[in-house]
Amino acid sequence: MEKLDPYLNETTQNYIDSIPESRLKKAVAYALGGSGKRLRPKLMLSLIESHGMDSKPFLKAALALELVHTYSLVHDDLPAMDDDDLRRGQPTTHIQFDEATAILVGDALLSDAFKLISDTNALDAQTKVQMVHILSEKIGSRGMVYGQILDIASEGQAVTSDDLMKINLHKTSHLLEASILFGAITSKRAPLHAYESLARNLGLLYQIQDDLLEVEGNEATTGKSFSDERRGKPTFITLLGLEKTKALNAAYEKAIQESLVTLHLKGTPFAQLISTILYRTH
Ligand code: IPE
Ligand code: IPE
Ligand code: MG
Ligand code: MG
Repeated sequence: MEKLDPYLNETTQNYIDSIPESRLKKAVAYALGGSGKRLRPKLMLSLIESHGMDSKPFLKAALALELVHTYSLVHDDLPAMDDDDLRRGQPTTHIQFDEATAILVGDALLSDAFKLISDTNALDAQTKVQMVHILSEKIGSRGMVYGQILDIASEGQAVTSDDLMKINLHKTSHLLEASILFGAITSKRAPLHAYESLARNLGLLYQIQDDLLEVEGNEATTGKSFSDERRGKPTFITLLGLEKTKALNAAYEKAIQESLVTLHLKGTPFAQLISTILYRTH
């Protein structure tokens, strides 16, 4: 999927160029830079390519997913939330700039994401509306933002596996579901619930990997500061221990592999991207 990087770089630069010269523009460029993996746009684009289509006409809609994700990270790192000072191998946006700028960067990225979808000329009007519906549903008060408030409320609390699953589903799976659904609807694939189920399991696995990396990885490799322990954040590791948490992730991996078979995606660029996620170290 490295071959998508130059196209994503160019689309990102064109977006940054559209912002009036300002501190906001500098900070937006900064937040989108660094060592981000750009997984969400790559999931969408590689799925389109796996269905035999050229993904380039859909780069703007794919970038919308990265804008939303980056907004969520900039806000997630704020002192009022996880209070982290390192992200994507560089000081977090509120450290490099200031809190007001970081809040506004998030506001701008979230708003501009919807403009990018509407500006994707290769999409028909119906598909654009469907994307706006999916994205707003997956990230709003019933989606990612709901997951973030549950996550904040869980700090220092005794939680169950079901509570944690609900948090992870909302804060992490839902945006991955939107990303994969964007790929599926662009390439006119069905049934959408099968793609959604794959993405849901991928998100649950991805968040557990993230928590495992805080315990077994290091800040130099992940490029971000670790705040779970300091904040008393409950995770599957604190609840079940390392061994059972890894067994849980093995079960998600099996379900993901089965979905790839059912959806006839084995051996495609999308499946290759999934396997890089399964073995990620950052
Ligand atoms: C980090 O996401 C937050 C989670 C949802 C686990 P990524 O690991 O995709 O972060 P970047 O985009 O590569 O920085
Ligand atoms: C991030 O979750 C989820 C969102 C930003 C929506 P975390 O707080 O667990 O992720 P990191 O560890 O800061 O990347
Ligand atoms: Mg958080
Ligand atoms: Mg965080």
